Amino acid sequence: MKENKTFYITTPIYYPSAAPHIGHLYTTVACDAIARFKRMEGCKVMFLTGTDEHGQKIQQKAKEAGVTPKQYVDEIAGKFQKLWKYVNVDYDRFIRTTDDYHETAVQKIYQTLLNKGYLYKSEYKGKYCTPCESFWTESQLDENGKCPECHREVKEATEEAYFFKLSAFSEKLEKLLTETDFVQPEWRAKELVNNFIKPGLEDVCVSRTSFTWGVKLPFDEKHIAYVWIDALSNYITALGYENDKYDDMKEFWPADVHMVAKDIMRFHALIWPAMLMALDLPLPKKLSVHGYINFNGVKMSKSIGNVVDPFVLGERYGVDSIRYHILREMPFGSDSDYSNEIMINRINSDLANDLGNLVSRTVAMVVKYFDGTLPAEREEGEFDADLKKMAVRLTPAVTSLVDETKLSSALTEIMNVVSRANKYIDETAPWILAKDPAKRARLASVLYNLLETIRICTALLTPFMPAMMPKALEQIGASKEDISFEKLSVFGVLPACVTVKKGDVLFPRLDVVSEIEYLNSVIAPQKEEQNAERAEDEDLDKAGLISIDRFAQVKLRTAQVVACEKVAKSVKLLKLRLDDGRNGRQIVSGIAKWYKPEDLIGKKIVFVANLTPAKLCGELSEGMILSCDCGDSVKLLTVDSEVPNGSTVR
Ligand code: MSP
Repeated sequence: MKENKTFYITTPIYYPSAAPHIGHLYTTVACDAIARFKRMEGCKVMFLTGTDEHGQKIQQKAKEAGVTPKQYVDEIAGKFQKLWKYVNVDYDRFIRTTDDYHETAVQKIYQTLLNKGYLYKSEYKGKYCTPCESFWTESQLDENGKCPECHREVKEATEEAYFFKLSAFSEKLEKLLTETDFVQPEWRAKELVNNFIKPGLEDVCVSRTSFTWGVKLPFDEKHIAYVWIDALSNYITALGYENDKYDDMKEFWPADVHMVAKDIMRFHALIWPAMLMALDLPLPKKLSVHGYINFNGVKMSKSIGNVVDPFVLGERYGVDSIRYHILREMPFGSDSDYSNEIMINRINSDLANDLGNLVSRTVAMVVKYFDGTLPAEREEGEFDADLKKMAVRLTPAVTSLVDETKLSSALTEIMNVVSRANKYIDETAPWILAKDPAKRARLASVLYNLLETIRICTALLTPFMPAMMPKALEQIGASKEDISFEKLSVFGVLPACVTVKKGDVLFPRLDVVSEIEYLNSVIAPQKEEQNAERAEDEDLDKAGLISIDRFAQVKLRTAQVVACEKVAKSVKLLKLRLDDGRNGRQIVSGIAKWYKPEDLIGKKIVFVANLTPAKLCGELSEGMILSCDCGDSVKLLTVDSEVPNGSTVR
């Protein structure tokens, strides 16, 4: 039990203009799982996230929107908080770089760097990538002379600027990267040494005069702080460094883990430690660098047009399944490829079949054979020792993997024990034991051993799936004390006569074919494909035609109206509840002039199934019902009563 230990973990701070996708989700959900795990261990945790709100890009976007940059960021800053709340990210502190206390502290940081001789004025001549807000040297550009990160055009920039003496830290940084385990995985550190330190570390330009949206340098107000110095400082200003808002530096600095994706590793592994050295502050203990969530091999990003919306997935499959999937799929340090097929199969195999079934089968057997409460008698038998040994070894193994931020491996370890428990059911065959009254004590032991294994596994899974695991623990009758951290390495914690409580299915099994069809209809295809299609479509548009592929994008299905009523605030709209052969849906349609609600009940109709949901007069409409113009009136397009609900129309 780490009662007096503190633990400080940070995510990058996000650009508020980004459309959040599951790529963004990875770091924050990973940090959340680690933070929750550490709280469970008994640590006092500080989990920090936030938004990075300055810079030229924001200034440009605000201009396009006709508002001030501050109005612009205020409007959109809540987007990420909303997402984190939705996916149950339980952070302790949220920083915005436009917060006053942060801005003042950044000014003081610049002043200190200047006073200590680490800043000097010179002229910047170089290549600047506006979307990435990064300066690059000639040798760092890609083979086409473009930005090595986003591969877009860079522009020549020359302006008076302040420089940070990064080169002065070359030796110390090399030592940090080669002699310590600061950067994880280790091979990423080698990459940094070879790409940046060996060719000769250059000083960094840390002020701009070509735009105004940022922190003004206190000693030269026409200069704006470089966004990366501004942004990186958040990790200490959020603890109260050089400000009065907080006072947590002593308790939480140095950070235990900064987690970032590979594209921003160099800022965190070179500039940030050098800044801290210049400020005489201790260095963070670990920089954990993960790869990208790709979509068919390409980084998921809004500009590429291949983003997967976490809200769409969460609504359909539950937030825990999505959290589990992305954490389980991302191998430590490398990229992971998102695919609808892999996700659906993963949810089915790991969560519905292995974990969900283990819980529901075990609880159902305790109910069936013992009316829900186990008797006290016990009889140990074959296979018990192996299961118990695996279960008690699990917590220390998972703890060290979480400490190493190897979350996919931690989940694999837990799921191995879940599988072992399922095998134990097959080996011990409780349904056969139940037939023999003399085997009652043995049956009770088998079921108790299963409940204990579930207790340990689901408690360890709680930081990863905080919504569903408490429900599993409730079903097996585990109390809060039964899952205190020190009891997770002990077998035999649940009361001998434990009472279980049957509950809802934790993870319903998904129909692979229809789910993949659904996901393909809601997730944006690749941009290249889109471009090719767009060119073709433009030609056809001119001729007043569309391609068969374009028509096939419209998903038409049959459904039956099961309920219908007028929309209160409208004379035109009716709200229809449909049996669509799946989970049901609601569609709002402007047909009140031609139909009374009661006339529609029972009718079989055709609807567009993949329209973006919209709100009409405050009511959600998930699609559109097809109808025909008949002179001045409108008639619904109906189908034969024999056609099953949910049939595809083509
Ligand atoms: N504002 C900077 C970070 C400053 S930290 C002092 C930034 N913001 S971001 O919004 O563009 O990205 C935030 C994080 O999300 C970065 O670590 C970025 O690499 C990560 N990801 C964005 N797309 C991603 C994937 N497709 N996969 C995994 N992570 C990805 O960078």
